[in-house]
Amino acid sequence: MTTDLTLRSVVLRRMTVSDVPGCVEVLQEHDPSQDAQEWVARLGRDVADLNKGPVVAVVENLVVGYARTLPFHHDTESPPDAAPEGYYLLGLVVALAHRKRGVGRLLTAERLRWLVGRGTASVYYYTHRDNVASQLLHEQMGFRGLTRKFWFPTLLPDHAEVLFCLHLPSTTAKAADSQGATSCPPRSTCPRRWGAQRSVRLHRAEAALPRPPKPEQAALSAVCGAQFASRVAVHLRLVAGSS
Ligand SMILES: CC(C)(COP(=O)(O)OP(=O)(O)OC[C@H]1O[C@@H](n2cnc3c(N)ncnc32)[C@H](O)[C@@H]1OP(=O)(O)O)[C@@H](O)C(=O)NCCC(=O)NCCS
Repeated sequence: MTTDLTLRSVVLRRMTVSDVPGCVEVLQEHDPSQDAQEWVARLGRDVADLNKGPVVAVVENLVVGYARTLPFHHDTESPPDAAPEGYYLLGLVVALAHRKRGVGRLLTAERLRWLVGRGTASVYYYTHRDNVASQLLHEQMGFRGLTRKFWFPTLLPDHAEVLFCLHLPSTTAKAADSQGATSCPPRSTCPRRWGAQRSVRLHRAEAALPRPPKPEQAALSAVCGAQFASRVAVHLRLVAGSS
């Protein structure tokens, strides 16, 4: 495991408009083929959307990492193998010079903490089947592989992504689940029946995943695993204290 005391100098916070240029730099460093103006427009939409919860990692006023969430709903065009409805962790990128120091883990823990606060029951994420770094990071946080065969609106039909799922230990979410509700944000146009009918295979696979043993245990510890909980908790206390 990486032990890096400079982690303490990393500040995690919700992304604001003033972070957009810094985020564009990080994203373009990772993928120079993407147009900067498109990134500016997309990040601007992220900031404005309260359901997306974009977060940044900042070191000495410099954005060194970015990540967001996305609430995904099915619609009438969604095929039978559509990925489950719910929250997805997307867009995680850490600046090259700051990788392997725990920043990606912190950005993931922070989004999970945010989702626990919203009563979310299950969180999803996908990545390329060869992206070992991303998979190891998410598996450390408790994510487990669901399937390679799934449809998602932004992916090509012959994509090589793997879908992962994490059950969050939220008592609120469990109560919502037991009443048959989904953990998606309320949306008047959300045809929930599609979720029930079209993702039945994926939900069966999900049911086989291990669930957190104690729903009442501290949410952060449960989502991060005992190995990382204290480190992340200390960090988040530092951040909370500094805001
Ligand atoms: C994937 C990525 C976000 C990881 O960020 P990071 O800040 O370097 O990750 P962390 O330091 O928090 O590492 C957490 C764990 O991830 C795994 N990991 C991270 N980088 C790794 C690498 N290069 N090789 C293997 N495992 C790696 C390790 O298990 C690590 O735990 P450890 O420190 O106990 O070994 C970063 O490499 C990145 O931005 N990659 C390009 C964009 C990308 O692939 N994003 C994910 C798309 S879903």
